[in-house]
Amino acid sequence: MRQHKLALCRDHYLDWIPEQTERFIKKYEMFQRDEKILVAVSGGKDSLSLWDILARLGYQADGLYIGLGIDEGIAYSSESQRLTETFARERGLKLHVVDVQREYGQPIPVLAQRSQRGQGRPCAVCGLAKRHVMNRIARDLGYNVLATGHNLDDEAAVLFGNTLQWAGEFLQRQSPVLPESPGLARKVKPLCRFYEREMAAYAILRGIEYIYEECPFAEGAPSIYYKELLNKLETDKPGSKLIFYLRFLEARSQGLFADPIPRAVALHPCPNCGQPTSNNDWCSFCKMIEKTKVAAE
Ligand code: AMP
Ligand code: FES
Ligand code: ZN
Repeated sequence: MRQHKLALCRDHYLDWIPEQTERFIKKYEMFQRDEKILVAVSGGKDSLSLWDILARLGYQADGLYIGLGIDEGIAYSSESQRLTETFARERGLKLHVVDVQREYGQPIPVLAQRSQRGQGRPCAVCGLAKRHVMNRIARDLGYNVLATGHNLDDEAAVLFGNTLQWAGEFLQRQSPVLPESPGLARKVKPLCRFYEREMAAYAILRGIEYIYEECPFAEGAPSIYYKELLNKLETDKPGSKLIFYLRFLEARSQGLFADPIPRAVALHPCPNCGQPTSNNDWCSFCKMIEKTKVAAE
């Protein structure tokens, strides 16, 4: 690992990753030993490894898989669900499964088409649905915190996109921990300081079977382009990605992106689902689902 000036054998590497994760959990005050954690697992290397690490560290961590119904061309959703269920069964871990089609009438690609959001790309609708379901399950089932598998490459790409636009509000919100607020579960990213290839190496060395394919709709997404650019930079200047992200966190903690006159965003519970929203009426998720029902009539 040129970025850390560190070389480890297999056994030490498999100890190093959980040790570092524990260090990040404490440093960013993500959660305590007695708290109940809901890990959002997609069947990919990051979230399955995160679940594996938290279980190894002795945390009370259950999983949540959201069935998105993305199965045209390649069986992306059904295969990732199979791998996630196998992972949980083999380790005796508790997994909640929420199927979007069963609960909200249609799979993601159809919801996206009918709601006409996001110019042919279902990612916006998919993100909205994932955030809604993750928060609903964390809240309704009494979890203290929701953990996702975002790694350093993910975080650096988002940061790069937001920096290109000096999107202050988004920069201020990008953090390893988003504290809970009325109706919203605390959100944490314990893997945010690991490179993507470090997580791939961990998953492979631990013998975790994960889905190699990306979501078929990710092709051509700006985040993928930013990742490629940052990888070029990293090749020439090892450690750049990590420094970009860590220096950002320092600047953020010093209030560099904070609004000097904080505007109180009035949130109120959505009259339909009860989740907080800044809309005057229903939340964006409920409105989107309603629109798809009208479109079907
Ligand atoms: P992505 O937005 O696909 O880069 O995924 C980021 C994180 O969101 C993953 O590491 C998971 O923690 C979570 N996630 C993504 N897709 C799902 C899913 N279908 N079910 C549950 N969690 C997911
Ligand atoms: Fe949601 Fe690709 S559109 S994972
Ligand atoms: Zn709602």
